[in-house]
Amino acid sequence: MSQSSSFVRSTWSNRWAFVLVTIGSAVGLGNIWRFSYLAGSSGGSAFVLVYLLCVALIGLPLLMAEILIGRRGRGNPVQAMLNTAEETGNSPWWALVGWVGMLGALLILSYYSVVSGWIADYLYQAVVGVRVETAAAAEQGFRDLADDPVRMGFWHTVVLTLSVGVVARGVVAGIEAASRIMMPILFLILVLLTLWGCVVGDMPAALHFMFDFKAEALTPGVVLAAMGHAFFSLSLGMGAIMVYGSYLDKKTSIGQTSLWVVGASTLVGLLSGMAIFSLTFGYGLAPAAGPGLILQTLPLAFAHMPGGRLVAIFFFLFVLFAAWTSAISLVEPFVSWLTERYGIRRVQAAWGTWAPVWLLGLAVCLSFNHWAEFTIAGLNLFDALDQFASKIMMPLSGLAIAIYVGWMMGKALVREEVQLRGGAFPLWFLVLRYVAPLGIVLVFCHNLGWTPW
Ligand code: PHE
Repeated sequence: MSQSSSFVRSTWSNRWAFVLVTIGSAVGLGNIWRFSYLAGSSGGSAFVLVYLLCVALIGLPLLMAEILIGRRGRGNPVQAMLNTAEETGNSPWWALVGWVGMLGALLILSYYSVVSGWIADYLYQAVVGVRVETAAAAEQGFRDLADDPVRMGFWHTVVLTLSVGVVARGVVAGIEAASRIMMPILFLILVLLTLWGCVVGDMPAALHFMFDFKAEALTPGVVLAAMGHAFFSLSLGMGAIMVYGSYLDKKTSIGQTSLWVVGASTLVGLLSGMAIFSLTFGYGLAPAAGPGLILQTLPLAFAHMPGGRLVAIFFFLFVLFAAWTSAISLVEPFVSWLTERYGIRRVQAAWGTWAPVWLLGLAVCLSFNHWAEFTIAGLNLFDALDQFASKIMMPLSGLAIAIYVGWMMGKALVREEVQLRGGAFPLWFLVLRYVAPLGIVLVFCHNLGWTPW
């Protein structure tokens, strides 16, 4: 672990370590479970194409802006906002962005850990050799899990403890080491699975479903969901990227790094989609199964393919790895704030964070069964948390970041910090200033029923 001279603060071992951990944060359940279930239930291509557009025009520029704030501010999300606001003569109220991020990350973590727990449960089932032969059995298998808060709570506890445990060990020793080992394995398994999808599944059907343009499917709801997912899949607006950026050295190019992260995250999403939908169509299953999609369809596919048990083990292991590295980045913003603000030891801060998230997670487990009747705006707690975070908190926080870096920090300082060469800087700055904020606002307006086009 190296320490920067001006600030007693750890930094990543090298540039690749940063790329790796940021990919680790971005690539997770979002790219696999959430992308496929939302694309599946939102008509496929409409969702996928809007998502890709949002990633390019809103996600990439914002990712760079968020890394930039972290690196310039050298602190946890609240402190990084305070430091940069002070340096650039802006109001300390901008620290609210850090607060929204940190607390939003904990909200996401509470249900993220539960869904990761489902994956752990299915990994366990694959290991002990549970086989589902029919679609009805696969659906029943998922229902059994969703109906059992104790089983869900158990796996939620395991996953949350593992994630917090890594953060307790520290940024470089814990997070970096975990990502270094996990990310390469993850890519390997994914490529294998996609090839498998080509051999035993219906890849042409999957490609048509994902990429054929169907204008009539572009409803306001789908557009908002797709934009929200661009934020979710790139870990934007929740302090995660900001806090990782704060451990980044000054020499690393933010632009190149961000391109790697966006490329990897999008590639994993598309590859997962192709693998999952080719298997789904190949076995005549329904793409619109909802949050249980991968758990209702894939075990059936696995049961019918040669070597399916091994593929299942690999698949769930891969998803669990990906979820773990993302969950870690959801814990880190708040823990770094606790340690830096109050001088508490990292281990204590990490376990102190574990407790409230664990409790909220238990409530999420109950929201699928005993507490299903308890709804917020017609949604159970699980859906309410996910929709609130991805459709409201993340875009609003992203909008604030775009305005802050694009309009408030000062062009000269931003140019110096981001170190983009040639025409790249004016292009990025233009998109950050106008295209990204306008895009977010338009999607919101469109959803409130006001459509200028
Ligand atoms: N990007 C992660 C995923 O796709 C989720 C995440 C969101 C992680 C926000 C950190 C912050 O699974």
